Amino acid sequence: MTARTVVVTGGASGIGRAIAAAFRAEGDRVAVLDRTPGPGGIAVDVSDEDSVRAAFSLVRKELGTVDVLVNSAGLLTESPVEDMDLALWNETIAVDLTGVFLCCREVLKPMRAQRWGRVVNVSSQLGLKGGTGLGHYSAAKAGVLGFTKAVALEVAADNVLVNAIAPGPIETPLVDGISEAWKVAKRAELPLGRFGTPEEVAPAAVLLASDPGGNLFVGQTLGPNSGDVMP
Ligand SMILES: NC(=O)c1ccc[n+]([C@@H]2O[C@H](COP(=O)([O-])OP(=O)(O)OC[C@H]3O[C@@H](n4cnc5c(N)ncnc54)[C@H](O)[C@@H]3O)[C@@H](O)[C@H]2O)c1
Repeated sequence: MTARTVVVTGGASGIGRAIAAAFRAEGDRVAVLDRTPGPGGIAVDVSDEDSVRAAFSLVRKELGTVDVLVNSAGLLTESPVEDMDLALWNETIAVDLTGVFLCCREVLKPMRAQRWGRVVNVSSQLGLKGGTGLGHYSAAKAGVLGFTKAVALEVAADNVLVNAIAPGPIETPLVDGISEAWKVAKRAELPLGRFGTPEEVAPAAVLLASDPGGNLFVGQTLGPNSGDVMP
């Protein structure tokens, strides 16, 4: 296949960074959009409509129509629901759910016009099973799965395929902040007995974006999760 234009939000760190590297290894042109983008990346706040518009407009100018969008930008904080500030809830929904909507909205029409496109939304297994202290995050990630199915239905007929990945615990800066006691207990629960690495998640995104390998996935969720959830 010829080189495609791939946008990876949250591509400066963790899972997004590994996904960006995996698409580069496929020979694709990759634009990294991130709140802290690093060299060569494009600054964006995915929760801000104007910022998202400006970033995608820059990508279209420099790299043309986006063929593949991977939404990996996200943040995780912890609070029991009964003590949760509305601001914390709103921030999580804005970044982890509304950000996915805003970025998808930028790419769908041009993808439909060219009758080829792939969107991969990074959800979480916590969107399927929930997590203590993670009511806001679990709600946002479950929302991503519902949104993924709805958009998939809207655009599949034009060969634009929208799917999700719901990773289990993966060794990235996102989980670094969680207590060591939680990590030890969590590892013990996992059938594989260990967390994953970003490099073990990235090939799932490459598969969903591939042609013909991804051609029959519509509104699906792949779960690289060390066996923690078997939907
Ligand atoms: N690490 C895990 O265990 C795990 C498990 C399941 C799902 N996820 C999801 O995977 C995705 C990537 O997480 P990660 O573990 O690689 O974390 P990470 O912190 O390493 O990477 C997240 C990236 O998103 C960027 N980002 C955060 N807020 C942003 C915003 N408003 N606008 C633009 N960019 C923003 C950060 O700058 C960072 O580069 C997230 O959506 C996360 O919820 C992670």
